[in-house]
Amino acid sequence: MPQGFFITFEGLDGSGKTTQLRRLATSLTEAGHTVIALRNPGGTVLGDRIRGILLDSNSEADLGPISPLAELALMFADRAQSIAEIVRPAIAAGSIVLCDRYTDSSEAYQGAGRELGSDRVRAVHAAICDNLQPDLTILLLPDLAASLRRARRRNTRAVQQSGADENRFEREGDQFYQRIHSAYEAIAAREPQRVVAIRDDASVDQIAAIVHSVVSARLESVRS
Ligand code: TYD
Repeated sequence: MPQGFFITFEGLDGSGKTTQLRRLATSLTEAGHTVIALRNPGGTVLGDRIRGILLDSNSEADLGPISPLAELALMFADRAQSIAEIVRPAIAAGSIVLCDRYTDSSEAYQGAGRELGSDRVRAVHAAICDNLQPDLTILLLPDLAASLRRARRRNTRAVQQSGADENRFEREGDQFYQRIHSAYEAIAAREPQRVVAIRDDASVDQIAAIVHSVVSARLESVRS
């Protein structure tokens, strides 16, 4: 059985990571690998409920303001469940696991965006996730303003088309996103072996080709 491999995708809202994750899932499947894809928050029954609470712009009308620490705890409750139900079993079965966001998102959004601090987030990760780290993280960091424009446009379209409103984070101001961007840069500098940052505003196809070659090289080095 091949060795399991855990890859996460990270970046700002509108960075294109979800598209790139799908492209990679397709190319790896075509190459004969078993691929399991999921996202945080979500992917389990519990996680999808937590996602509804955390992302829906209208949640706070029902629940009152969600405190930053409660938000952090809910992100990790979701993550603990997806690790137990999906990630660990898939890795043990020798699959390639692709996860759309993981703990780097909590460090960037709650640690920096909500100003709870990296150390606190990393301590929660150690306690709740048994410190399970991805083998590789693809971090997409295109221009900040362009990412935000894309994310806000996409959310307006989603509300118009389906009524789905996952805007609670995208309503935040530019400084919130500037802090997140800087936190991602700091994570990439701290862990250059795990985190491959792609700062280009290149086309979707060009970035897909870069991601594919980075992942193929890593897989070759662990599986040959
Ligand atoms: P996602 O569906 O990943 O959005 P996008 O496709 O726009 O990137 O949405 C998840 C939102 O939740 C996103 O705004 C980031 C936020 N988030 C956190 O704040 N902390 C976390 O730990 C995670 C996983 C996500």
